[in-house]
Parts: sequence; structure tokens; C-alpha cells
Amino acid sequence: MPGADRPPAAADAFVFFGATGDLAYKKIFPALQSLVRHGELDMPIVGVAHAGGSVEDLRQRARASIEHAGTYDADAFARLAARLRYVDGDYADPSTFARLRRELGQAARPIHYLAIPPSLFGAVVTGLGSSGNARDARVIVEKPFGRDLASARALDDTLHAVFPERSIFRIDHYLGKDAVQNLLYFRFANAFLEPVWNRHYVNDVQITMAESFGVEGRGAFYDEVGALRDVVQNHLLQVIALLAMDAPTRHDADAMQSEKLRLFRAIRPLEAADVVRGQFRGYRDEPGVARNSTMETFAALRLQIDTWRWAGVPFYVRAGKRLPTTVTEVVVHLKAPPLSVFGEEQNGPPNHFRFRLSPQVVICAGASVKRTGDAMRGEAVELVVRNDPSADVSPYERLLAHAIDGDTALFTRDDCVEAAWRIFDPLLAAPPPVQDYAPGSWGPEDAASVLLPGDAWHDPQCETKERA
Ligand code: BG6
Repeated sequence: MPGADRPPAAADAFVFFGATGDLAYKKIFPALQSLVRHGELDMPIVGVAHAGGSVEDLRQRARASIEHAGTYDADAFARLAARLRYVDGDYADPSTFARLRRELGQAARPIHYLAIPPSLFGAVVTGLGSSGNARDARVIVEKPFGRDLASARALDDTLHAVFPERSIFRIDHYLGKDAVQNLLYFRFANAFLEPVWNRHYVNDVQITMAESFGVEGRGAFYDEVGALRDVVQNHLLQVIALLAMDAPTRHDADAMQSEKLRLFRAIRPLEAADVVRGQFRGYRDEPGVARNSTMETFAALRLQIDTWRWAGVPFYVRAGKRLPTTVTEVVVHLKAPPLSVFGEEQNGPPNHFRFRLSPQVVICAGASVKRTGDAMRGEAVELVVRNDPSADVSPYERLLAHAIDGDTALFTRDDCVEAAWRIFDPLLAAPPPVQDYAPGSWGPEDAASVLLPGDAWHDPQCETKERA
């Protein structure tokens, strides 16, 4: 066991369960090729699945996946293909894990990625434990981490039966995005934000995650999950944590997690009255969706954070499918100046900070300046701090590289996951009825009902209109 201050040793073999599945096809193979290209995966790579076929079939699938992603690189792919091995077998059968052990050869610190449904975690984790494959090993798991507090705890119990918490890496891919990391960096690498980053200056904080597409062949999965569990309880809550938490006192992963935990614990559990749920018209006709489904494809909600910094400041969150555009954006609205020196009409809108998290990375500050001319009349401008087209490495590549290195900073800890569920549990147990909305709209009109008087939703524009 490494000492608390000693950096952990890097993994020396990469194993992924669910090698023939959807997640591997869409995200993992392209990330593996990039890691190989960047020299970060110089180790055996073992795919495990129960699908028949051979290592040659897996190589072909890897190539199809990477070509589909548009990132095929002949040299890097050849190196990936040469390292790829395959174990085919039932996850409940001990011989599958015995063969995995043989494939791992001399490897002493494998990392096992469970790219499989949570219902299979128990069998795989038990198999890894009893076959010796878990010794000095790490495990990576994907969301959903349960569907409520009780199931999240059960999942943690399953994992902890074999892996200590410090060896468990829970992926929330939002934490691997450069724009999301920049929220934290911009807040704590600068001194000018802190004096205004509180209830005295901030009127409200809004986060919108809009997607113009629907459930796209994931109907059966999505109908069990819905927008609240799919993106709000995890991705958007993590964004809120980075926006609202206090600065960690040390530069280490545990200090960061502990500040997040403090924040999550200060968020008031949600009730039906804080939330509007919507479902786009036509959702029930999607393949895999129940004809009488009441699952939400849209949610708008108001969160309250009971800390001295944030008491009384509403945090509004909106997420949905089949909205007018695909964009994730945070806007922090500041309060208006205390007096209108130039008259009500002449004042521009109050200041704001805007962080676009995708598709581009944008950070800007909204201000008012005087228009040229005699009159003291203002116009609203945005001072652009950063405006990058997304040239970032993929979140999966970044997260897998961190997990291989044993760096837990970008992963979520068991107590944080459980605290996040505690916020959503009362709502999920008694959700408000779902309201329908037209595809291509900003959700049900009633979404405005979660806003406090005087507040309005900021609808992100399809095209950014920043001025330099
Ligand atoms: C996933 C959700 O976790 O995140 C999807 O399951 C969603 O429904 C996706 O579309 C959004 O991620 P990104 O990186 O495209 O914003």
C-alpha cells in the first residue's frame, strides 16, 4: 500500500470488460489509440467479453470504431492492435478470470475498466477478487453509480468487498473536460472573482445543458433513467460543485473531494415543488420507450445551498433532449448596482460571467459601456477571456491516463456520490408529473415556475456572439 504522500505506481496492464459493447466502440477504442499515440499505454491491453470471436475480431472492431470516430492513425493503430489481447467468457465462470490471469503474464498492477452494465459488476468484481486479478489492481467504473442512495450504497459495498476506495475510479466524463477544469482554474488561479463570488454580489447562477438530439437508439436505457439521473445528478452537480465550493486548502485529490462533499451536504434536498419535468412530444414513439412512459427528457430545477457564501442565491439547472441547440453553458448573474446613476432606462443589464462548456470553451464577462455620443446611454458588451474551438483531448483519454497513473483528482469518491444522491432521493421518490413540450422548444412553459420573481432563463445562443 503506497504511503499517503508517495505517488502511486502506474498500472502495468489495461483490462476492459465489455470489449464488444457500445461504450468500448464509441469511446474506449479511440481513447486507447490516442493513449498509445502519446506513449501512455505501453502495456498489455486485454479486452474481455462474452460474445464469441477472436482477438482478430476485436482488432477489426477496434479499427471500425476508430474509423467511425474519424481519428484512425495507421502507426498508432498498428501499435494498439499489436498490444491487444482478448479473453472470451462468461463473467460468472471462474475459468474466464483464470484465462485473464494468464493473459496478464508478468503484470503486477492491472487496471480493470468495467465498461458493462452495473448489474454485472458483482460477478466481475467477485471473479477478479477470487482469481487474484484484484491484487494491487485498480478498477474503473462508469456512471450510473446506482439509481438512488440505497442502490449506490449497494454498489459501493460490492466494489469495496474487493477493492479499497483508493483503488476505485468512478468516471464522470464531465470532469475530464478542459472547459469544466477551467471553471476551477479560473476561480482559484485569480483573485478578482473571490470578492464577488457570494450572496452579496451574485443574484443567481444558471446552468443549461441543451441537446438538440433525442435518445438516438438508447430509448430502452434512457426510459429507465431520465434526464435527472442521466445528467443532472452527476454531470451538472459536478459543475455546480466546481462553481460553488470553497478553495481546497491543499493541492491533493482528497482535499478537493472533501470540499465538494461539504458543498453537496449543504445543498438542500430537492422536492417536487423545486422541479419541472418535461417530455418531448414523440418520445413515447421512440424504440425501446414504453408507450405510456412518464420518464422526463427535460428537467428544470432550483437548488439552494445553505452556506454563508450562498444562502438565498438560487442555482437554476436546466437539461433536456430535443431542445433548440446543443450547448452547455453556465451564467452567473451579478446583482444590479445599488443606484441607477444614469436613470433606469440608461443602465444596461447587470454584469455577468458566462462559461460555455461545450461545444466551444468560452469564458467571458458581461459589462455595460457608454455608447459614443452625447447621451449617457449604455450598451451591453462581453469581455472575452477565452474563446477556443474544442481542440481538447477527449475526456476519456484524459481520465484513463489519470486512472492509469493512479491520480484520483478527476474521479468521484464514494461519500460524494452518496451525498449527491441524498439531494435527489426525496424528489425521485415523489416526482412531479411530467409535462409535454414541443421538440425544438426550450421545454415546457412551466419551466419558468422554478425561477424566483424577477429572474429569467438565459437561453444560450446557437452561435456565440462574443465581441473581442
Ligand atoms: C452522457 C449521457 O453521460 O452525457 C447522455 O448519458 C448525454 O445522454 C451525454 O448526451 C452528454 O455528454 P457530452 O460530453 O456530449 O456533453
